[in-house]
Amino acid sequence: MDHSVKQNENIFILGIESSCDDTSCAIIRDGVLLSNITANQSIHEQYGGVIPELASRDHQKNIVPVVDAALKNANITLSQLSSIAVTRGPGLSGSLLVGLSFAKSLSLALHIPLIEINHMQGHILAHFIEEKIDVGSYLSDEKENNFSESPSIQQQISSNKQPTFPFLCLTVSGGHTQIIKITDYLNFELLAETEDDAVGEAFDKAAKILGLPYPGGPLIDKFAKLGDATKYKFPTPKLKNYNYSFSGVKTAFLYFIQEQTKLNSNFIEENMNDICASYQAHLIRYLLKNLLAVSKETNITQIAIAGGVSANSGLRSELEILGKKHQWHTYIPKFEYCTDNAAMIAITGYYKFLKQEFCSLDITPLARYKI
Ligand code: KG4
Ligand code: ZN
Repeated sequence: MDHSVKQNENIFILGIESSCDDTSCAIIRDGVLLSNITANQSIHEQYGGVIPELASRDHQKNIVPVVDAALKNANITLSQLSSIAVTRGPGLSGSLLVGLSFAKSLSLALHIPLIEINHMQGHILAHFIEEKIDVGSYLSDEKENNFSESPSIQQQISSNKQPTFPFLCLTVSGGHTQIIKITDYLNFELLAETEDDAVGEAFDKAAKILGLPYPGGPLIDKFAKLGDATKYKFPTPKLKNYNYSFSGVKTAFLYFIQEQTKLNSNFIEENMNDICASYQAHLIRYLLKNLLAVSKETNITQIAIAGGVSANSGLRSELEILGKKHQWHTYIPKFEYCTDNAAMIAITGYYKFLKQEFCSLDITPLARYKI
């Protein structure tokens, strides 16, 4: 079937994201965001991590209201959609299945093409989201359901400063830590990655050891602002390439806390801010050390960050400082597009739509999906 768009016809992409514990739907018209609705799942806080079975059940519950709200906030109807873009992976299989099955059904019912999206590419292309949001307050009284909408209300299209090609992106999330070279909207080359855990896990695991709820990254960030980042030291692994490894530092952190609490049972309570500040500063130094090395090696000075951990205030400010020192052009996503959201899936879908990169309806989720 020919899905090319005639001149003067708008391209409406509905994006769906359900790879982990956020159910999200966004609508993009001609590359401009009209709505972005996310339902978060607070149920996992008590378990210290995402429980896959509970996550997929909550996606089942949330997906229809979230899609409905996104359409209403965008003030469009299903019949106007040009295509459905959906996260295929990487992520939790059960969670991905909910979004993917829903997207397939919608595509089939509306006779419009399906576009499959790599979640990590989505995180990176979040830098290209343009906003013209006048979404009103449709869900403002639904906060108890943990629904949230993109907060910026603007009458005109506003685009963040966008990277130019080629650029490097340090992509840091709960499941990934990568340095990617991007030469075009849909051209990604993996230059370095973690050999074991992701940096988001290193944040979340440390938070769990400190008795903080999941996800602990934002809480470590909060306490770190009040602490002394030079007080405690942690080891940095030495790998031969620019890859990362975070499992050693996680274990070192555990032993450090065990030893200190043996000496003083109130060690954590008395030193929470300094522990968080020192640990966070250590992780950031390590992330930026390899990023600097890759920038030097590739001679690329357009530098972006993306993914949940790019919401970290320490990482954001240290990147700016390093960028000034090395004459980089740095790109930091808007806060609401750092953690999982469907706007990043819809914008990636838009660029795939322009290239007519559609997929068949028999695709299955990819828990592991290389960039
Ligand atoms: O991209 P994301 O929402 O989901 C995945 O694709 O994994 O990233 C979630 C990760 C979690 O590990 C969370 O703790 C971390 O991002 N995170 C942060 C901050 N906000 C979210 N880590 C450190 N500081 C933050 N402010
Ligand atoms: Zn993510």
